[in-house]
Amino acid sequence: MKTLTRLHSAALAALALITSAVGQSAPAAGNTDAGPPRPIAEEAAVLEKGRISARRRALARLATHPDPEADKLLLAQFDRYRAGDLPPAIWLDFFEAAAKRNHPALKAMLAEREEMLAKSRDALSRFRECLEGGDGEAGRLVFATKAEAGCIRCHTVSGEGGKIGPDLTWLRNAMDRTQILESIIAPNSSIATGFASAALTLKNGESIAGVVSHESADELTVTSIVDGKKTTVKTADIAQRTPLPSPMPPHFGAALDKRAIRDLVEFIAAGD
Ligand code: HEC
Repeated sequence: MKTLTRLHSAALAALALITSAVGQSAPAAGNTDAGPPRPIAEEAAVLEKGRISARRRALARLATHPDPEADKLLLAQFDRYRAGDLPPAIWLDFFEAAAKRNHPALKAMLAEREEMLAKSRDALSRFRECLEGGDGEAGRLVFATKAEAGCIRCHTVSGEGGKIGPDLTWLRNAMDRTQILESIIAPNSSIATGFASAALTLKNGESIAGVVSHESADELTVTSIVDGKKTTVKTADIAQRTPLPSPMPPHFGAALDKRAIRDLVEFIAAGD
């Protein structure tokens, strides 16, 4: 079993190398288009009843706004967040803006929230602000080009990409945003049907590990997670079969920033 696990880890390490060799960084979805600061009363009016995209730009301006009243305006948004009155699509923008201010009350509130989330048993709770409001086009770039993600090596979207994991164009209709987010940050919480991984030891001593992509009474096909190569073996030739965890790298929650994760969720859930 140890050798098999090692085999699997070696395959994952090799994959990481390949991914970083072919990947190029996607341009960061920045706030460069937010424009110069406006009078606080104007920013407040936008946050009150502007469109989501306008509120997002206002929050980006408030992050570095020279007027100290900006802190009070952000504190008021915290109250709205607590009261359930802040749209989820701008949560991330709000937390990012608050974190950039150097204000004790804002810092204390952020710290309090972090502390609460750290205690939560629900792994998803730290990423709730990634569920809505992402940029699908930026998400497509993360999916297709960001080396830390490497999604396209294993997944196909709209006819392009690898076939080691399930086609995400199809998943779009089968999963809601929470499930998509969960499969990115906690891939082992559920395994897509027909994509379970296993390590096999054959009677001739050979070892094979990968995604069991096809299975019948007398044979099964294993897809290598390194090069997508398919190997078919007879059930009768298998000495031992051990289930393996999902080959989805388990660390996306740490490797990708929240903006990239929010964009990915948008892209997978709604397209670009
Ligand atoms: C090493 C190959 C590999 C990489 C890289 C990879 N995946 Fe996967 N992914 C899989 C496999 C295999 C499955 C099916 C097993 C499972 O459900 O975990 C899967 C499942 C999924 C699912 C569906 C889970 C379910 O329960 O139905 C989603 C959504 C997903 N991946 C998204 C992504 C995204 C987004 C990325 C990039 C950030 C990514 N994957 C990177 C191999 C990969």
